[in-house]
Amino acid sequence: MPRCGVEWNGLRRRLSILAMSARSRDLPRRSCLSTPGATEKFLAKAPSVSADMTFLDLEDSVAPLEKVGARKKVVDAIKNLTWDDRVLCVRINAWDTEWTYGDVIEVVGNAGERLDEVMLPKVQSAAEVVALDLLLTQVEKNSGLPVGHIGIEAQIETARGLINVEEICAASPRLETVIFGPADFAASMEMPVLTGGVQVPEYPGDHFHYVFSKILMAGRANGLQVIDGPYLYVRDLDGLRDFARRTRVLGYDGKWALTPDQAAVLNEVYSPTQEQFDRAWDLLEAYRKATEEERKGAVMFGDEMIDEASRKMALKFVTRGERAGLSRSPSSEA
Ligand code: GLV
Ligand code: MG
Repeated sequence: MPRCGVEWNGLRRRLSILAMSARSRDLPRRSCLSTPGATEKFLAKAPSVSADMTFLDLEDSVAPLEKVGARKKVVDAIKNLTWDDRVLCVRINAWDTEWTYGDVIEVVGNAGERLDEVMLPKVQSAAEVVALDLLLTQVEKNSGLPVGHIGIEAQIETARGLINVEEICAASPRLETVIFGPADFAASMEMPVLTGGVQVPEYPGDHFHYVFSKILMAGRANGLQVIDGPYLYVRDLDGLRDFARRTRVLGYDGKWALTPDQAAVLNEVYSPTQEQFDRAWDLLEAYRKATEEERKGAVMFGDEMIDEASRKMALKFVTRGERAGLSRSPSSEA
């Protein structure tokens, strides 16, 4: 009986996810462009930057005295600028400020259907996500949006948020991504650094390895995309490329970009190469032939023994490559 209940809950969650924020849930997020919401110049430029996702920020890049005024600028940008099919998001202020509910009511209530998601920073508990979900439902009803239209991105950037990340990632079917915020996280942990999100040379290894892995597992266990935060040395593109490879190798979907140049680097780092993409396709075909025509579950593929797990890995490459716009080379298809 309890098992049946667990299965029913799982099925209910999967069905409700299908209905939620369907447009943006599976779109790529290799590069997530941060755009300060109070600055018209940056807002006007954002649609021309080649990024998979853009978020208009009402949080830490906006001064307290500009917070309320920025809401209208962000709404105007969403409604009046020409956005392509990228994921479009607004980062609201955290629940421990006085701005959160006003951000949601004013922005979600007036932006219209083009807004895909809101990002909630400094999430510390599942309850914060549930509170946002409930508020979104009321605002959607009052503004004529389909209920469930707006997805949620949750930023993990405090010690408490990391401790609770598993419950946070399971808190609402609106959740689409979980994001690591290295700068606030370093502050929360009282790390002796002044720049978040970069390598610490004194540490023999990757000082965020545990954090990256814990967030990744919690996100994947709940079907979320998992995103790395900003790299603050904006002129050091080689340093960005090097640092981004760490989360790419672990399995992250993408990373924040603070400039158009950073976005270009990230689009490359978080895409499979054409060679990897073609090899994944070849493997899938070889394995299909082996299982369906020869009735074998493990066969040689070049120098490698492949089985069902290899098929699953290859499928990830193909899905990721297709999301990044790759198609199979004609020579590989022959
Ligand atoms: C991003 O919000 C960060 O704190 O790194
Ligand atoms: Mg932050």
